[in-house]
Amino acid sequence: MAYISNEVINEIRNKTDIVDVVSRYVSLTKRGKNYIGVCPFHDDHSPSMSVSPEKQIFTCFSCGATGNVFTFVSDFEKIPFIDAVRLLGEKVGINISGNVSINGVKDDYYDIYDLASKFYQNSIFTSLGKNAINYLNDRKIDKETIKKFGIGLSIQKISLTEYLKSKNYTSLKLNEVGLTNENDNDIFINRIMFPISDLSGRVVAFSGRIYNTKDNSKYINTKETDKFKKGKILYNYHIAKEYLKKNDSIILMEGQMDVIRASTVGINNCIATMGTALTKEHKNILKNMTRDIILCFDGDAAGEKATNAAIELLEDSSLNIRVVRLPNNMDPDEYILKEGANSFKEHIKNAISLVDYKMEVLKKNKNLTDIKDISSYINSAIKELVFVNDDITVELNLKKLSDNFNVDYTTLKNKYDNLKNNKKEVKEVIKPKKVYDKYGKAERSLIYYMLKSNSVINMVERKVGYFPDKNIRELSNEIIYYFHKYGIINVADFISYIADREEILNTLKEIVAMDKSDDFQIEEIEDYIFVVNEYHKEAKIVKLKDELKKEKDPMKQAKISLEIMELRKGVKNGTRN
Ligand code: UTP
Ligand code: MN
Repeated sequence: MAYISNEVINEIRNKTDIVDVVSRYVSLTKRGKNYIGVCPFHDDHSPSMSVSPEKQIFTCFSCGATGNVFTFVSDFEKIPFIDAVRLLGEKVGINISGNVSINGVKDDYYDIYDLASKFYQNSIFTSLGKNAINYLNDRKIDKETIKKFGIGLSIQKISLTEYLKSKNYTSLKLNEVGLTNENDNDIFINRIMFPISDLSGRVVAFSGRIYNTKDNSKYINTKETDKFKKGKILYNYHIAKEYLKKNDSIILMEGQMDVIRASTVGINNCIATMGTALTKEHKNILKNMTRDIILCFDGDAAGEKATNAAIELLEDSSLNIRVVRLPNNMDPDEYILKEGANSFKEHIKNAISLVDYKMEVLKKNKNLTDIKDISSYINSAIKELVFVNDDITVELNLKKLSDNFNVDYTTLKNKYDNLKNNKKEVKEVIKPKKVYDKYGKAERSLIYYMLKSNSVINMVERKVGYFPDKNIRELSNEIIYYFHKYGIINVADFISYIADREEILNTLKEIVAMDKSDDFQIEEIEDYIFVVNEYHKEAKIVKLKDELKKEKDPMKQAKISLEIMELRKGVKNGTRN
């Protein structure tokens, strides 16, 4: 893998204007020095995102999203940082080809997974793979499908670890990426291997299924790594995305086998959550794919629960959601095998709207011949309709209720109007800002000003012993390192520099979005430094007090007390050391 230097990344950034790029995605209006627009990273109703042509960064005052032009494109398009660099590079005539990593730190992750995936795929077609092939054939998965989804096999006798070591990857590295355990052995043994790709289609993990042995876990998956987070990945995303034509719907399923089965009958717009609950990140990914989502989870009780949870998560957005509930506890895989592709396609075609689904859910556990239950059902149904924005849908549903239960339409309509008028305006939820104690505030303020002034960097370097917070500590080290290397610090470029370090990048983003004046007095900085240095003294006092409580020997007690007093004096006198 080649790597790309920060100088090249900065050059691309310098040749690119953030206002230009952001306005390709969001409409911006000039307001003073900056441009403002609706923030695409939360459900924004009034423009809360500001883009600064001067600083070349964007900041949302409501949700705190911030970054430079690369992180904007990367977050918006759901592509890795480096792909955003590549994309914008092309536009200014700087081409970055092949597999690259940033900062000169070679990242072998994708290379290793690429090799591992090919290794497993080769294994399944050896003589030792016969049983696995038979198992798959019994499940009506043919050779073509095995190849299409890169399905492979882990075999006890053929060690992946040994193979990768022969390619000069260290035990440490293999353990870190989740392919070996602490004893240096393969994690996956005798399992059918399904490669899992990230949103760009690179293999980043495996899901391995047992096929001829008994084991407590049917599937085991690669542990979560910085490249594989179940909550941010959807199985088959990169392939389904290719199949999605404009306005086509995406079908969301639970398991990889469901997706694979659907593809064998020509349905290629399916993705799967792989058994985890849908997350906000998933929602954002889906929103960027299409407006039209069909939930087709397993037909059992767990699938129903997952359906309801997914609806709750997805509902507030501009998505058109429809639901399929398969009968007799079947999952899509079983249904297609048992009832045939055409019957399944009918289900998809007739997927019911969200309102209809909810009206059905409300009927559950109700005896709809009983007057009390009918009344309670109608009431809850009308309550639900209050949240529906489309007047026609509301009217049709009220009519249906009126017809089905023989209740006068006007009665229902009046009830609906009353509820609707009482409905409080739903306020936009604004993420509460994190609250920090005085140490947290002081250390964050210092970072904030380090990014603005060389002299603050110098002061921190000379006077701050050790920041209390681990991420702040690393961030400060990186700023100092960067400053010495380039002689200047520029927030927009610095964001690129740490783009592959998620934790400290998040801390940095939070600090950049802080509502602080750009001007400062040296005394203010001195005070922050004082508070930060005081932290360790306070921490030491707490520790000594604890020791004092446990100490039985009076002589030793006196010694500890004295030590505490000395430390206290220092704190009170404001000794700045
Ligand atoms: P299911 O139990 O519904 O599996 O879990 P499935 O899709 O029907 O698989 P087959 O047909 O038995 O082969 C749904 C998904 O949850 C994850 C897997 O990604 C699976 O596809 N899962 C399930 C696990 O991660 N571990 C498990 O032990 C089971
Ligand atoms: Mn199944």
